[in-house]
Amino acid sequence: MRASFFIAKCNIYTLSLACLAMAAICASVECIAAQDEARTVWDGIYTVEQAERGQELVDEHCAICHGINLRGSQGAPAIAGLELLFLWDGRTLGELLETMRTTMPPGQTGVLADKEYADVLATMLQGSGFPSGNEAESMANLEEIEYVIIRREKPE
Ligand code: HEC
Repeated sequence: MRASFFIAKCNIYTLSLACLAMAAICASVECIAAQDEARTVWDGIYTVEQAERGQELVDEHCAICHGINLRGSQGAPAIAGLELLFLWDGRTLGELLETMRTTMPPGQTGVLADKEYADVLATMLQGSGFPSGNEAESMANLEEIEYVIIRREKPE
């Protein structure tokens, strides 16, 4: 239900408290929905446990090229910190995850389960300085993180 619909209905003839109240409620619902859409990597969307699990996978499958601390090597770019964020600023975690899932490690895609890629992503977020959250296994449901936006700067 859209606020604009109620506001449109609240024309000069029907202007009433009930009508205004309805519009206000709808507007705030929309507001919450909008905030939800705009979740960013600053909202604590991974847990420390996930990042720890991810680190083990990084050591095993990614570090040989991207370095244990994810800062890259001569042959491969950094996958944490400014270098990553410079390229990914404004894009979604869903996109990043999909890129990892379909291209990494080169020639060995699918060596990790989807959930394991998410754990590696948690390690990358931690390594980039984003805060962890308390929500149990926040990234366990991959659909939930799909639209989380990568932001280099903390939003106001
Ligand atoms: C054999 C070396 C190698 C391994 C192992 C490897 N990568 Fe990569 N990775 C690369 C290279 C080279 C690039 C840059 C070229 C490209 O984008 O295809 C890259 C690019 C990336 C990117 C994109 C970086 C950007 O800034 O867009 C991500 C994310 C990534 N790798 C994640 C991973 C993860 C996670 C793993 C472990 C599961 C992994 N890689 C394992 C070599 C490797």
